[in-house]
Amino acid sequence: MQIFETIESLQSALSGAAANTLGFVPTMGNLHAGHLSLVSRARGEHDLVVVSIFVNPLQFGANEDLDSYPRTLDADTAALIAAGCDFLFLPSAAELYGDDMQASTRVQVPELGTHYCGASRPGHFDGVTTVVTKLFNIVQPDAAYFGLKDYQQFSIIRKMVDDLALPVSVHGIETAREASGLALSSRNGYLSAEQKAVAPLLYQTIKGIGDALAAGDQDFKRLIQAGKQQLQDAGLQPDYLAIANSATLRPATREDSHLVILAAAFLGSTRLIDNLRVSV
Ligand code: PAF
Repeated sequence: MQIFETIESLQSALSGAAANTLGFVPTMGNLHAGHLSLVSRARGEHDLVVVSIFVNPLQFGANEDLDSYPRTLDADTAALIAAGCDFLFLPSAAELYGDDMQASTRVQVPELGTHYCGASRPGHFDGVTTVVTKLFNIVQPDAAYFGLKDYQQFSIIRKMVDDLALPVSVHGIETAREASGLALSSRNGYLSAEQKAVAPLLYQTIKGIGDALAAGDQDFKRLIQAGKQQLQDAGLQPDYLAIANSATLRPATREDSHLVILAAAFLGSTRLIDNLRVSV
């Protein structure tokens, strides 16, 4: 695996690589089995696999965990070599944004980005879409792979690629989970042993709602209220819990047949997110 820290060196290696197709996995590092499943999909489908690790300051709010976000480059590098990554791109913030990040151009997907995580984390998705566009322009992949755990992020990126006619196919890969059901996430590392025992309740709650929807229950309001109560009783503080149309992310109606249950909750200061798609 070759490692590049500048756009110029990566692009020069990319132009010299004899590859018909290029698969790309953008990440913020601290890689777990979920990320590696994206790399493995890209490896199976492309001649050349590029992974980026960049903890993107533009997608973190002022009071968020940019400084403490886990950085585990040695372990990530070893895992990527084992997973068959060809090129690892490790840009600095100055390499991507120059010396005035705040003055740099933004890419914004309206509407889809304003609810749920967008409401709790203002500006977050503008930071994501901006960096992903920039990385797509640098790497010029045929396909890019994203985890479905961040379902709203995935939906926004898919719409951005469609709206801007970006020449890349976007793939969403199923969430990797622990045996307890807890979705793998870099932020799980912030949890204490006691919190780790409570955290799976987030998935169990959305799974319970999903089972009820699949069984024909259409009382969305009651299901959400009961779900929020269940989370609170266990010590999770719900940020949002919603049943939405899985394509538009608008609140579900009784006519919708493809639904997504979206959830975010705080466990202490750690914010966990998860979702479940259900067809009814
Ligand atoms: O999902 C992530 O890890 C990040 O939001 C992404 C897509 C790499 C952009 O920084």
